[in-house]
Amino acid sequence: MSNDFLQHTIGNRAGMSVTIINYGATIVQCLVPDADGRAEEVTLGFDTPQEYTQPANPYFGCVAGRYANRIARGRFQLGGQTYQLPINNGPNTLHGGLSGFNRKFWSMQAEVNSITLEYISPDGDEGFPGTMTTRVTYTLTENNELKIGYVATTDRPTVVNLTNHAYFNLAPQEATIGQHRIQIDANRYVAVDDNYIPTGQLPDVTGTAMDLRQPVTIDERLPQVEGGFDHSFILNRPGIDATQPAVVLDHPRSRRRLEVFTSQPAVQFYTGNFLDGTLTGRKGVRYPQHAGLCLETQHYPDSPNHSSFPGTVLRPGEQFYEQTIYRFSIH
Ligand code: GLA
Repeated sequence: MSNDFLQHTIGNRAGMSVTIINYGATIVQCLVPDADGRAEEVTLGFDTPQEYTQPANPYFGCVAGRYANRIARGRFQLGGQTYQLPINNGPNTLHGGLSGFNRKFWSMQAEVNSITLEYISPDGDEGFPGTMTTRVTYTLTENNELKIGYVATTDRPTVVNLTNHAYFNLAPQEATIGQHRIQIDANRYVAVDDNYIPTGQLPDVTGTAMDLRQPVTIDERLPQVEGGFDHSFILNRPGIDATQPAVVLDHPRSRRRLEVFTSQPAVQFYTGNFLDGTLTGRKGVRYPQHAGLCLETQHYPDSPNHSSFPGTVLRPGEQFYEQTIYRFSIH
């Protein structure tokens, strides 16, 4: 695998374009037109591919894996054996360990409207069993849809949870996402402890700050959520052909809208709570808290340790396949 940085851009006639690099299969640029047709950057990131390697990179635009989100104490059992992963987030493992898929060089192949990246994760990579081959395909349609397809196979039973960790801000001239409105089609969410590990409870959102079934302005709701949103919402109607999107994000002034459709069972809604103004991003801009938000479509956190959650075990002969569509439009 080449450890040289490669990048490729796909564009459409509607004025949208997306740039991907082979490091972390990362989205490093996503230009989307506003109501006046002005294409602007709607994700947080850095100016150069090299900057994505810095330890302080908070997973900007990358693919998180082999297991996105947390595994309690970095430990799980499979086939009667206990596996221990590197601990990198309090007492737990986050986003695949110290050198997750976000820190790997992938092979990259471009077509007219799509880019396919592949990473072969060796047996024992960050403590996970089995050689796992992952292919991620980014496709840009003429309808301003960015489709992300994930395919994975393994030669021994393993666990897998893959997502994209892009931080969106549909109004790049605003320092935070406070004026965005969000709606998530979820009746339940995954309750977590102080270390963001699931308690096993899947509470009903009714009557709580987690009820996002009607659009809410983020600045109005955030003060009610201690620490900000960093929660897994269980989608009512997962499916890429769903008539109703899983998530709708609007920015009233730019009139940009982002709708999310996914085959995955949940979305981790994260409001950039750990950004603190120390990280310098594109064009020298320092990203304050809530500069961007993530809509990470994925399985529930720590599923390998919760038999009641949808399964995340991948076995030889099976194919893991998930798809997410980020559809941009004007409202
Ligand atoms: C995910 C996690 C957050 C945080 C970010 C990266 O969204 O759930 O707690 O770790 O990734 O900073």
